[in-house]
Amino acid sequence: MRSAVRGPVLTYSGDPFAAGLDSTMHYEPDAIVAMEAGRITHFGPAEKIDPLLPPDLDVTPYGKDALISAGFVDCHVHYPQVPMIASYGEQLLDWLNTYTFPVEQKFSDKDFARSVASAFLRESLRSGTTTACVYCTVYPQSVDALFEEAEALGMRLAAGKVMMDRNAPGPLLDTPKSSYDESKALIGKWHGRGRLMYAITPRFAGTSSREQLEAAGALCREHPDCYMQTHVAENKSEVAWIEGLFPERQGYLDIYDHYALCRPRAVFGHGIYLSDAEMQTVHRTGSALAHCPTSNFFLGSGVFNLRRAVTQERPVRVGLGTDLGAGTSFSMLSTLNEAYKAAQLSGYALSAGHAYYLATRGGARALYLEDKVGSIAVGMEADLVVLDMKSTPAIAYRMQFAESFEQALFIQMMLGDDRAVQATYVAGRPVYRRDAQGDL
Ligand code: GUN
Ligand code: ZN
Repeated sequence: MRSAVRGPVLTYSGDPFAAGLDSTMHYEPDAIVAMEAGRITHFGPAEKIDPLLPPDLDVTPYGKDALISAGFVDCHVHYPQVPMIASYGEQLLDWLNTYTFPVEQKFSDKDFARSVASAFLRESLRSGTTTACVYCTVYPQSVDALFEEAEALGMRLAAGKVMMDRNAPGPLLDTPKSSYDESKALIGKWHGRGRLMYAITPRFAGTSSREQLEAAGALCREHPDCYMQTHVAENKSEVAWIEGLFPERQGYLDIYDHYALCRPRAVFGHGIYLSDAEMQTVHRTGSALAHCPTSNFFLGSGVFNLRRAVTQERPVRVGLGTDLGAGTSFSMLSTLNEAYKAAQLSGYALSAGHAYYLATRGGARALYLEDKVGSIAVGMEADLVVLDMKSTPAIAYRMQFAESFEQALFIQMMLGDDRAVQATYVAGRPVYRRDAQGDL
């Protein structure tokens, strides 16, 4: 299938934290992006690309108030927690016991899992997110449910079965052997099937025995091209508890390092309380951190210092995560808003140019996918989001006074949300149109 879109385009060709915005951020006020068989075939100024396209190709015009970019990348999210987003009153460990573990038990029912997976993916696409790294539950059928739905949509998605064998209700516990066997079977079934990828998922050191972390390490060794996702240093009580569970280790991250879980394609959620030495380990091992600001503020976990993470002396890969259902929004724009505030509280300002990089190519780089998604260039997979830069009356009003593209972008980041998403494309196919009547 061939298709094309026309309008203003924002994309990145490199890492602005390393090389600056001038050489890495590209804004084209009137561009065409043409797509075929799931990939971008043409991209450039409209007057240059238009003559190269077949005359019968329909080019969808989005106009000067739109902004076309690569689809957003969510590096850390729990789809089973969608039914309990916005649950009141607790911090991490109590929140897990009070709200999270009860709802996750419902995912032994495959039909329930499918209905939540479908709602989760639809809402992600409605928010412009086209790639995500997703936690399922301990039940393998909850993984099947998500992958089946994502496959039908053609999404590039990583996900995995949560491994947990202690400190949770009985029905949610597996064993080192069953978690290894079930994960292995799911890898064989799903990893590399179309655009789907498997993430080995020990929930966190608090819910895994040493033997289970050993099993996760074995899976990582046997499947180096799979992801590994877990949580680290999110909350002060959690850090103290987990360091007490593993007194033989040098700290929280050293537990994971000891079991060979720190590696390329390892994605650690949060990392607020990592020491400088631990940041060095993240850097050295090619692991990534998922910055989850809406969740960190909602649970009162703390403030992630992005500048410290990306310092050029030992930069670590950082992507953004919604971390639903501790996070409070599907929208990457809302997540950028909170990332800006987290940066302010850490003593610096996060520019819109750097922030959009994190939401797109930066997230892709954290997942070692920057050669596939996260930017607009010939040969890249054709996942796009089309923003409406005047999506609410207040934003439209404010935009009259914007004096530059950077200012306009910052206004979107601070005031925009899911309403700003006009259209979403997955593999060249429109999968969401805000103003569409009925099915696409
Ligand atoms: N740490 C262990 N499990 C979880 C979870 O489900 N959500 C968050 N935010 N942190 C965790
Ligand atoms: Zn999480």
